[in-house]
Amino acid sequence: MLTTTSALVSAARAAGTGVAALNVITLEHAEAVVLAAERTGLPAIVQISQNAARHHGDVAPLAAAVGALARASGARLALHFDHVEDTALLHRAAECGAGSVMFDASRLSDEDNVKATRAAAEWAHGQGLYVEAELGAIGGKKGSAHTPGVRTDPREAREFVEATGVDALAVAVGSSHAMKDRTARLDLGLVARIAAEVPVPLVLHGSSGVPAAQLRDAVRHGMTKINFGTLLSVAFTDAVRASLAASPEEHDPRPWLAEGRAAVVEAAAWCLRAVDAA
Ligand code: G3H
Ligand code: ZN
Repeated sequence: MLTTTSALVSAARAAGTGVAALNVITLEHAEAVVLAAERTGLPAIVQISQNAARHHGDVAPLAAAVGALARASGARLALHFDHVEDTALLHRAAECGAGSVMFDASRLSDEDNVKATRAAAEWAHGQGLYVEAELGAIGGKKGSAHTPGVRTDPREAREFVEATGVDALAVAVGSSHAMKDRTARLDLGLVARIAAEVPVPLVLHGSSGVPAAQLRDAVRHGMTKINFGTLLSVAFTDAVRASLAASPEEHDPRPWLAEGRAAVVEAAAWCLRAVDAA
């Protein structure tokens, strides 16, 4: 069923557990996430990033596919637009069936981040959308270096939420985007301090680089929405590479797309279970 990020995050918070948010790029990724949710019996937030939307040129076809897959499934699934910097994409969220958007102005100064995020949240709330924003840039957005030193200050986080009216907050607590190994070290004490200070649910980005035990600990210390992307892409591409290497004469894309999709089902199921701390 197609539900909303708001409903899934609220339910997870009430149950003291986390909910995984999984980035999809192709139809096969989306099919795999839905299959993983069905297989595990756990809910999933299906995310389309601004980068993925740009890859397709128009976000609407992939968003429509996610919506169709979700409506046909017994699993609880939500559609979310992720890392939206472009207001033109923000403005397409509701018509494309997304119930939530992460508006990412974290590249701006904190003052400009507040202004831009408040304006985006006011507009989005008028459309009935649930809004996530980020304070304290989480590193590695260009897939480069880790930035382990970046941290969100708990008091500034509370002030940011009060000033912008956002519904969920992504914070920098030691993870970094696009890590291919699980070597991040989360500052769990900071997670607890931010959770005690900030009234809205917290979001962990760059979760592919976080060891399984720390993901569960992060949830227990107050994280609710846990975002994964790179781990799924690595699983997909490794499986496709192996399939093509094993069958170099193959020209039908279906066998290797199927191998990639099967690998993403396994990886996505791992993510869904990893944040299920109940
Ligand atoms: O917003 C998406 C997530 O932060 C994904 O991060 O690709 O490092 O897992 P990741
Ligand atoms: Zn992210």
